[in-house]
Amino acid sequence: MKLDVRVLPDLVSLSRAVLEETFPIIKEAVAKRGKFSIALSGGHTPEKMYSLWAQTEQYRDKTPWDRVHLFWSDERYVSPHSRLSNYQMASETLISHVPIPPENVHLVPTTLSPPEECARAYETELLKFFGAEQPAFDLQLLGLGPEGHTASLFPNSSALDEKLRWVAAVRVPADPPERITLTPVILNIGRNTFFLVAGENKRAILSAIRAESNAQTSRYPAARIHPPREPVWFLDQAAAG
Ligand code: 6PG
Repeated sequence: MKLDVRVLPDLVSLSRAVLEETFPIIKEAVAKRGKFSIALSGGHTPEKMYSLWAQTEQYRDKTPWDRVHLFWSDERYVSPHSRLSNYQMASETLISHVPIPPENVHLVPTTLSPPEECARAYETELLKFFGAEQPAFDLQLLGLGPEGHTASLFPNSSALDEKLRWVAAVRVPADPPERITLTPVILNIGRNTFFLVAGENKRAILSAIRAESNAQTSRYPAARIHPPREPVWFLDQAAAG
């Protein structure tokens, strides 16, 4: 499988490269639709990009925050104040440092029970935001797990074969196990997709994905994300090998 790859020396330069390639997307989205929608990834890799976005004047002050709408590609079924929450990580690194209107921050609800209720509520939030338009994020950031998961789509998950729902509640072999995740239904219509992959521990899975012949049936969920515009893989040298 051929990947559109950008290899950067380290995580800081990877994060800067992602930001540099984000701004033309923001500009085009705001010019065409008056707003920019981004699905943030969780985990550790994107933390540096979020903090550079918030702390670097040229990025922070160049962003039309009143037109930016933040969503999440997945969330853990924990309190938004939990250290395990993807929202909490984004709040600490980005949201609490920039003048984004609170109504533009579209958290995944994680206080409803059971988790399926959260997935349904998030889907309603997406429907409200996208209205009659196709629910295509202007940019979706995704990470890669060592066994090929992305968002909270893990190998053999039934959510991989979802044909209708945009959001699913899943139980995953990771901590915490209960997750809310976007499904390939919505991820495969995103306008732009950036994978952020750093660290030597991702080298093996990247090689395995590249060795895949048929992406559609790949056992690796990340390999199954094929929106109209192919994803761009931002790798640091440690992950690229
Ligand atoms: C999550 C993420 C998940 C993450 C990968 C990579 O909720 O954990 O959405 O898909 O992107 O597990 O995580 P790292 O960036 O920490 O390696």
